[in-house]
Amino acid sequence: MDATARRAELEGRVVAITGAARGMGRAYVEGFLAAGARVAATDKSWSGAEDFQRALAARDDALVLDMDVTSDAEVDRAYQAALTKFGIIDVLINNAALLQMLLVNPTGRVTTLETTDEHWQKSFGVNVFGALKVTRRFVRPMLERRRGSIINIVSSGILSFSQSGGFKALRPGSREMPYMASKAALATMSFYLADELKDHNIAVNILIPGHTRGSWFDDAVRARVAAGMQAGRRPVVPEHMVPLALYLAGLCQPTSTAPSRTRYENREELRRVLRLFVPVEDVPTGGEGAHRPSYATQYEHRANDPVEGHECDVAHRFLDELALQADALPAVDRRQ
Ligand SMILES: NC(=O)c1ccc[n+]([C@@H]2O[C@H](COP(=O)([O-])OP(=O)(O)OC[C@H]3O[C@@H](n4cnc5c(N)ncnc54)[C@H](O)[C@@H]3O)[C@@H](O)[C@H]2O)c1
Repeated sequence: MDATARRAELEGRVVAITGAARGMGRAYVEGFLAAGARVAATDKSWSGAEDFQRALAARDDALVLDMDVTSDAEVDRAYQAALTKFGIIDVLINNAALLQMLLVNPTGRVTTLETTDEHWQKSFGVNVFGALKVTRRFVRPMLERRRGSIINIVSSGILSFSQSGGFKALRPGSREMPYMASKAALATMSFYLADELKDHNIAVNILIPGHTRGSWFDDAVRARVAAGMQAGRRPVVPEHMVPLALYLAGLCQPTSTAPSRTRYENREELRRVLRLFVPVEDVPTGGEGAHRPSYATQYEHRANDPVEGHECDVAHRFLDELALQADALPAVDRRQ
C-alpha cells in the first residue's frame, strides 16, 4: 500500500490548501485527492503550474482558486467560492509562505541587522497575518459543524531545546530572519488556537517539514554556491509530508462514529516516503551521508490535550515512534 491509497476517514472531506500550486502545497493537493478527499486548491499565482491548474479544473472533486492570503477581498471571494462548490470545509492547511529567497536576496541568507522593517512587514503579512485571515474565514463551517482540523506549516528553525535547565535555539546560525520569527509566531498562535478550539472539536496542529526541494530550492542553492556559501543538505521530496498531513486531517471524525483515538495504521507507507530523496544531479549539495532521514525527528505538532470524549485527540506517542523508526531507516537514493 502506498501514499496514494484511498482512506475511509478522508473520503469526501473538503480540504482547503493555501500555496497549492507548487512545492509541498501541490503534493498535499495530490495526496488528498488520491485519498478520496475534495480539495479547494488556492494560490496567489498559478504561473508555471498551468498544466496542474488545468488538470485540477477538469475534476469534479477539485476547485482551483486565485487567493493571495494577504488580501481580505481575495480570501473572502475564495472562501465563498469553496463553500458554494462544496458546502463545507473540514480541513484547512495553511501552507502558503513567503520564503526568504523571494524576500531578502536569492541566497535567502541575511543577518537580522541587515533586514529592513519592510522585510518583516512583508514576511509577517503572508506567514502570520495571511494564515490568520484565511483561518478566520475557513474555520466558520468547522465551528458550525463542530468538526475540523487545521494544519499550520512552520519550520524547524523555530525550535528550542532544554539544556541544563536553560533553553537553547536548535539552529540559530541559518541566517533566516525574519522568516523564522514569522514561523515562530504562527506556531505560537497555533498552540493558543488549539486550546481555544478544542472544545469545538477542532484540532489545530503544526507540521514541520524536512529540508525539502520546494519550487525555490534549486535557484537558492545555486545562488549560495555562486556566493561562496555552503550548499547545504540534500533535500527530500515535497510528498514526504503527505502521510502526516493525511493523518492529522483525518483526526476529526463525526462524533457518532469517532474512535477515541485515531491510529496511524500504515507504517509501510510512511517508510516509503521517508526513503525518497530527490535526484540532485544538477544541484550541488552536501556530500554523502549529509541527508540521513533524521529530519523526521523534527516532526512536531501541537495536539489538543487528550480530553475525555474529544475526538480530535492526537496520539503523541505515534510521532515519537515515527521519529525513532525514521532514525533507524537507511538513506535510500531515489536513483537507485
Ligand atoms: N522547503 C523546505 O525546506 C521547508 C522547510 C520547512 C518549512 N517549509 C514550509 O513549507 C511550506 C511550503 O514550502 P515550499 O518549500 O513548498 O515553498 P514553495 O515556495 O515551493 O511554495 C509556497 C507556495 O506559497 C505560495 N504563496 C506565497 N505567497 C503567497 C500569498 N501571499 N498568498 C497565497 N499563496 C502564496 C507560492 O505561490 C507557492 O506556490 C511553507 O509554509 C514553508 O515555509 C518549507
